[in-house]
Amino acid sequence: MKATVIDGKAFAATVRTKVAEHVTRLKEVHGITPGLAVVLLGEDPASQVYVRSKGKMTVEVGMNSFEHKLDAQTSEEDLLALIAKLNADQDVHGILVQLPLPGHLDSDLVINSIDPAKDVDGFHISNVGLLGTGQKSMVPCTPLGCLMMLRDHHGSLSGMNAVVVGRSNIVGKPMAQLLLGDSCTVTIAHSRTKDLPAVVRQADIVVAAVGRPQMIPGDWIKPGATVIDVGINRIDKPEGGTRLVGDADYDSCAAVAGAITPVPGGVGPMTIACLLANTVTACCRANGLKEPEGLTA
Ligand code: GUN
Repeated sequence: MKATVIDGKAFAATVRTKVAEHVTRLKEVHGITPGLAVVLLGEDPASQVYVRSKGKMTVEVGMNSFEHKLDAQTSEEDLLALIAKLNADQDVHGILVQLPLPGHLDSDLVINSIDPAKDVDGFHISNVGLLGTGQKSMVPCTPLGCLMMLRDHHGSLSGMNAVVVGRSNIVGKPMAQLLLGDSCTVTIAHSRTKDLPAVVRQADIVVAAVGRPQMIPGDWIKPGATVIDVGINRIDKPEGGTRLVGDADYDSCAAVAGAITPVPGGVGPMTIACLLANTVTACCRANGLKEPEGLTA
């Protein structure tokens, strides 16, 4: 059996098209242009690439992009003052502070100073609590993208065994909440899990989010299971140069799985598409308008 490849790049393009249609309607019918503010501290090259890509796609779907690039040494006081300004700005519907922050800053304090209604990352403690209790919230972009792909592939996820490998606040924990919300039986596995291969073998759905290159081999995968690979790891090629790989060993997993997301071209493109979707959702909520269907959890 050869797994169906879930094309996240193509799916992300359809999500962005839907977002763009909603943006057009918001502008033409309501005279509102959704706006996303991205705050970046310092010069980390990977973060700069992400932020540039976010800004470009924000503009491509017709929204306003506000980029705030600050010095790595920016004080907490100055950063909090900027966030307060963005919280009060009617033209800003979404705020994203690029992580990781420089070590002298308290990330929790900074994230929790964002207006929860504008927290398009879904990292604010209020949104975490709302998601955990099944209430309407802003949902973290990467898990939301994974959920959209799973729903698209399977229809209903009800009753499926889902194993999330990785317990981060950004992916593992919210992913588990979303799968639970869709009536999966959910296990969160991590570095201390006993007999991880046996746990993963129970899964109809495996979400790999550990950040360790190719750590999940095909012989851990139940035949026909769906593998969602959140990992983006750069490794050296034997012949020189580097390439991107996921947390699953793609070739051996694809030989056993029923469906799998590739790296690159799987979960990655869905994350930014969901950021744009969250910004439109936040804009609709802020203006008391019906929110887009199919773009939220
Ligand atoms: N850094 C890496 N991924 C993310 C993300 O999803 N949101 C933010 N704010 N920072 C990140």
